Amino acid sequence: MTTQLPSPNSLKLDWQHWLGSWDRQQSGYLPDRELRFQVMLDTVSYLLPESFTAIDLACGPGSISQRLLNRFPQANCIAIDYDPVLLAIGQGVLSTMGDRLRWVEADLTQGSWVESVGEASVDVVLTTTALHWLPIDKLVNLYQQLGQIIRPGGLFLNGDHLYFPPYLSTFQRLGKLAQTQQEEQAFSVQKQQDWQQWWQAIAQEPELKDLLVERNQRFQPRFTEHEPTLAIHEAALQEAGFREVSTIWQRFADRILLAVR
Ligand SMILES: C[S@@+](CC[C@H](N)C(=O)[O-])C[C@H]1O[C@@H](n2cnc3c(N)ncnc32)[C@H](O)[C@@H]1O
Repeated sequence: MTTQLPSPNSLKLDWQHWLGSWDRQQSGYLPDRELRFQVMLDTVSYLLPESFTAIDLACGPGSISQRLLNRFPQANCIAIDYDPVLLAIGQGVLSTMGDRLRWVEADLTQGSWVESVGEASVDVVLTTTALHWLPIDKLVNLYQQLGQIIRPGGLFLNGDHLYFPPYLSTFQRLGKLAQTQQEEQAFSVQKQQDWQQWWQAIAQEPELKDLLVERNQRFQPRFTEHEPTLAIHEAALQEAGFREVSTIWQRFADRILLAVR
């Protein structure tokens, strides 16, 4: 796709530290993050055979891949992201997974990401806290592509904030209040490291300097968040050929959406 990723082996870093601090930082925003992963993987265990191929979409440093491959010894996973820093951390920590885990560097707003996967079809695509980065038209395109790469009977699981519609204004307010309170508790009261501080700490790592420069070039112009409602996700997935779509877990606006192809 773009520049070649430097091999994490050539960098002298405590990768485990960075994955651990990533997970803690993300949990500050999502107190039920581990439970949400668990429900997603429980769903996979109930609905798929023991041997399957998964995609960890917008994987970051591979938090889903790590949990999935540990839990399902016969599964393979393809982890896709466009952030060279997060990919390097994931590769550094999860190198022990061998050929059960393959990393793909690709921009999900470009249709060509599907070819980079190198598989005609997969059994399940999982994604967390990520698709709100995509503008709605790109999200709809992505769902169309998932409708093609996920085999009939396969699954798509999206754990993210999937918002209430404007006419449910009290629900919308409730979702925002819950989020604000949670973040205040984690970052102001408990003084946990937040997103910005985590990236500031990364910037102090000389070994990661080049990757960080590359990351900022890729993402700087589009560090905006989008808030498509749950109904938009559901409609776009149905339009993409998913025959059953519904929420299977929820905490305010934070949900897991399951779509069956
Ligand atoms: C908040 S992180 C979540 C990462 C991981 N799924 C987790 O739950 O820890 C959002 C991820 O989406 C990725 N992302 C955002 N836009 C992307 C794009 N256009 N192509 C590929 N990845 C993208 C970011 O690089 C980042 O890794």
